[in-house]
Amino acid sequence: MTEPQRLIAEAREAAEQSYSPYSHFRVGAVVIAADGSKYTGCNVENAAYNHTICAEANAITTAAANGVREVDTVAVACLDGVGCTPCGTCRQMMREFKVRRVIVTNEAGEPVEYTLDDLLPHSFGPEDLGRVDQ
Ligand code: THU
Repeated sequence: MTEPQRLIAEAREAAEQSYSPYSHFRVGAVVIAADGSKYTGCNVENAAYNHTICAEANAITTAAANGVREVDTVAVACLDGVGCTPCGTCRQMMREFKVRRVIVTNEAGEPVEYTLDDLLPHSFGPEDLGRVDQ
């Protein structure tokens, strides 16, 4: 198994914990921080639908809560559809933490790698504020 395949397998495992009683669409994500530490997340839905947390956001905020400020890789997989690619909000969250590589799956379930610039070109980030506090 290649490293991207292994990360997708781990994202699928994280998706097993998905709380998605409304969409029945289970998503999992793995974050590898720049320091090599690893965090997982799944989507967590809410009866007030707009409070849903995506798997990527869950994994990234968990990493941040553990002190991570720079992320190397995010891998995403879903169990109930052909594939899953990060929503716009999650792409912007990835931008904040300088994600270098995003691994998703194609229709065959094989890993496909993107840079964040592929997914979010001409993006707005911390540097554009002219100051970075932390
Ligand atoms: N979802 C994710 O967790 N990540 C994505 O990249 C796309 C969508 C979740 C949100 C919601 O719980 C369900 O999938 C259906 O949109």
